[in-house]
Amino acid sequence: MKRAMRELLTSDLSLVIEIENRAFTHPWPPEAFVEIPGGRSWILELDGTVRGYILYHTSEDEADIINFAIDPLYQGQGHGEYLLNSSIRILHSQGFSHFYLDVRKSNENAIKLYNKLGFIPLGMRRNYYSDPCEDAIVMGLVKNSITTGE
Ligand SMILES: CC(C)(COP(=O)(O)OP(=O)(O)OC[C@H]1O[C@@H](n2cnc3c(N)ncnc32)[C@H](O)[C@@H]1OP(=O)(O)O)[C@@H](O)C(=O)NCCC(=O)NCCS
Repeated sequence: MKRAMRELLTSDLSLVIEIENRAFTHPWPPEAFVEIPGGRSWILELDGTVRGYILYHTSEDEADIINFAIDPLYQGQGHGEYLLNSSIRILHSQGFSHFYLDVRKSNENAIKLYNKLGFIPLGMRRNYYSDPCEDAIVMGLVKNSITTGE
């Protein structure tokens, strides 16, 4: 299977929204995808078809993962780790050093992945999610600044 990551294009959004609806019990409404900032979001392609996405919001040296999913049919095969790792590497090379995300307390698979890549729990947002109501764990990862060697 040929795997690739590339920047999200507006023309990808209909497939991204389909995956969102399959991957989450409480998906974002389609209109929430319209305001995705350009250049800070990537999709995963398997054999040329969109099978996952990761969306960031960035400011100064901070990058927040605002949405992230792999098509349920393709989960558990290392694709989420590849997409998360590769996108963090690109953002780090662009000067972003602080990475943050919110995750449902019960989302053990995602939490395992974040732990594996070095994210640590920083705190809790009580009753942050609805349908079902649930706390969010705030997780963060700090990567060293890139030095120029001078
Ligand atoms: C969370 C998600 C993006 C992970 O992507 P994925 O492709 O399924 O994960 P990977 O196969 O790359 O797994 C990487 C690591 O994550 C953890 N993990 C992922 N799925 C797991 C599972 N079913 N059981 C146990 N651990 C799991 C493991 O630590 C795994 O590493 P390992 O295989 O060395 O044990 C994906 O499961 C998903 O889209 N879930 C629904 C949407 C969601 O919860 N998004 C995150 C919101 S914060």
